[in-house]
Amino acid sequence: MMEIKSKKLVTLDEYIIQAQNRFPGATGELSQLLRDIGLAAKIISREVNKAGITNILGVDGSTNVHGESVKRLDLFADEQLISALDRSLITCMVISEENDGIVRLNSEGGKYIVYLDPLDGSSNIDVNVSIGSIFSIYMRQPRFDTTLVEEDSLQPGKRQVAAGYVLYGSSTIMCYTTGMGVSAFTLDPSIGEFILSDDDFKIPTHGTIYSINEGSYNSWSTGLKKYIKYCQEEDPDTGRPYSARYIGSMVADIHRTLVKGGIFIYPASKRYPDGKLRLMYECNPLSFIIEQAGGMAIDGSQRIMEIKPDAIHQRVPIYVGSPENVKMAKSFLEKFEEQPV
Ligand code: AHG
Ligand code: MN
Ligand code: MN
Repeated sequence: MMEIKSKKLVTLDEYIIQAQNRFPGATGELSQLLRDIGLAAKIISREVNKAGITNILGVDGSTNVHGESVKRLDLFADEQLISALDRSLITCMVISEENDGIVRLNSEGGKYIVYLDPLDGSSNIDVNVSIGSIFSIYMRQPRFDTTLVEEDSLQPGKRQVAAGYVLYGSSTIMCYTTGMGVSAFTLDPSIGEFILSDDDFKIPTHGTIYSINEGSYNSWSTGLKKYIKYCQEEDPDTGRPYSARYIGSMVADIHRTLVKGGIFIYPASKRYPDGKLRLMYECNPLSFIIEQAGGMAIDGSQRIMEIKPDAIHQRVPIYVGSPENVKMAKSFLEKFEEQPV
């Protein structure tokens, strides 16, 4: 008789259900929410892949709440994610980069609040470079007054119950965490399923890549300038000079940092005095992933996930990646703190 040797493939849906079964009291709602995001991601992935041959690609003429031009795919991704979340009646409110205020969903009693960057790196869409979707999930906190207000969503990143991203790259990858390590899945387009590729993704403790937009060099702090100089100096013992890599899609830069190690920085600059990246739907979720993989994420001094937010679209500087690299950057920032730029 023929012996069949096959490696068991675990799909995203199976994995989520297995994880849920480990918690007898779980209601299954968070699992459903993650599956909803997985489904929307497959639809977005399909559109991203065919963007070049349809008219979805390109600027739609409007601007988002930050005055940046919005590409049509951003809007498509926003609609897909929000309608997937709305269908399962678990989420009461969504906050998205593409919407000025909070978006109340049909289930006002839903337990979860979801932040979205529906398409990150959209300036890379029309040059065929990797982009992604980022999500961050909070529980709605009980209050006497049950009317949903924006303040309900202003919780520090350490209260996230889950977060993750989908990267539309040479393959489509989904990584998420519920606070028990990082799980990674790769989309097999031939069967339309995300297949488990790693259920405990770890970042190297030290890496030899630094990632920053050096165009803003002149307006960096002295500490940052000296740290980047340090990265470029020769010292074979620490792998220096490091290589410079900057994709310009945070989600793709973070994914590379997760796999290869190193540091990704988006600092304060003259153009962006508070940094450019958004705390609630870029920095917090990606910091949660990096920390769960054994890395670090700070704003220069304090942990990103400790920051108490006061606005849904607020920006924050970020230094994130392998623990040894982030600690070294921090020591430069502290040492030269008092010196003028
Ligand atoms: P988005 O496309 O969601 O607006 O985000 C773009 C962000 C981020 O992905 C990236 O790291 C950063 O902008 C790049 O900014 P610079 O072009 O200033 O380097
Ligand atoms: Mn973004
Ligand atoms: Mn975006």
